[in-house]
Amino acid sequence: MALVGALFLLMLVVFFGVLYFDRIWKPEAEKPIQEWNPDVLVLSNPEVSEQVKKGYLLLSASSQNMGPLQENPSLRYAGNNLSCTNCHLNGGTQSGAASWIGIGNRFPQFGGRANKTGSLTERINGCMERSMNGKALPEDAPQMKAMLAYMEWLDEGLPKLNSKNFKGYPKIEIPSVAVNLTKGKSIYEKECTLCHGAKGQGVRFNDPKKGYQYPPLWGDDTYNDGAGMHRVLTAAAFIKNNMPYLQARWDNPKLTDEEAYHVAGYINSFSRPQKENTTTDYPDKKLKPVSTPYGPWTDSFSPEQHKYGPFPPIIQYYKQTYGIEKTK
Ligand code: HEC
Ligand code: HEC
Repeated sequence: MALVGALFLLMLVVFFGVLYFDRIWKPEAEKPIQEWNPDVLVLSNPEVSEQVKKGYLLLSASSQNMGPLQENPSLRYAGNNLSCTNCHLNGGTQSGAASWIGIGNRFPQFGGRANKTGSLTERINGCMERSMNGKALPEDAPQMKAMLAYMEWLDEGLPKLNSKNFKGYPKIEIPSVAVNLTKGKSIYEKECTLCHGAKGQGVRFNDPKKGYQYPPLWGDDTYNDGAGMHRVLTAAAFIKNNMPYLQARWDNPKLTDEEAYHVAGYINSFSRPQKENTTTDYPDKKLKPVSTPYGPWTDSFSPEQHKYGPFPPIIQYYKQTYGIEKTK
């Protein structure tokens, strides 16, 4: 009798224990991205160090803190008014948006663009010089240290929100057709103009001391032609998994692969800042992504086809000739 009683009690404890644990952890773990505000979690959190807060501000309000809106001209490194987090969404924690979660474990890493194993610092400077159309920070710059501190903190201090932890972007199926700019334009007008503007110019905050509420996609104040986002396949994967903003997500996309591809080609068909010395990128030209829109290449496909596809024939060529499997 006592044994049955004890067993019953044990069962009760386990049952309510599980229930309690579930209530405590589940809502947090599954909280949708939009409900998590990094400003609140980082900036108004007394447990977060000043160094990490500084890093977060550099990454999420880049223009004021290290770009054209920084008051001290000697501290201006970014050349446009974007923020790093315009592409690395939600403070760099968003799965499927080149999240920084786990980034420390992924570097040093081999990169084809420089054809060597590079550090995280060098990777950040890659985005500074291209996505941010700016200049590299010195390796030991306090700004660099602060950005690294924030990225490190993401792994340690961040509750495991959005922790599906996709690095990069989930792959799209590469369409067999070339980009159709007419289709791209109509998708753009239907799904993107509202926020990014008819001329891709974006929308500034009312406060002139701040950057963009909706970042620009082409023109003088955005990523340059040497940036990853300027490759149609990379942009299509970002767009498919993240845009239209707050409507689409990696696990709930709105556009099809092909729609994302056409609209990616469309936004990248306009003029933008030019990166200097891109001919020296990818010293081993075999390693150049197929949709890198600037030459030289080590194949005889046209510049037009490298910019707008169709890409399967180029992918096939590298596979047959060099045994290299290309995905972007
Ligand atoms: C509801 C507003 C909204 C819509 C609609 C929208 N975007 Fe965005 N987009 C944003 C915001 C906001 C960001 C930056 C996100 C951040 O900072 O957290 C962004 C970022 C981007 C970026 C990366 C940053 C940059 O400047 O290059 C690209 C590319 C992009 N959007 C493309 C598109 C495309 C293509 C569409 C249509 C399929 C689209 N967006 C629809 C609001 C929107
Ligand atoms: C216009 C969009 C854009 C902006 C702005 C941008 N990046 Fe990136 N970033 C990318 C793309 C695209 C990649 C490559 C993603 C891929 O294909 O895996 C990338 C990759 C990275 C990576 C490597 C990620 C990994 O998992 O290997 C780091 C780190 C990074 N960016 C940091 C930054 C920092 C810091 C800033 C601001 C100084 C910044 N980025 C601004 C688009 C952007």
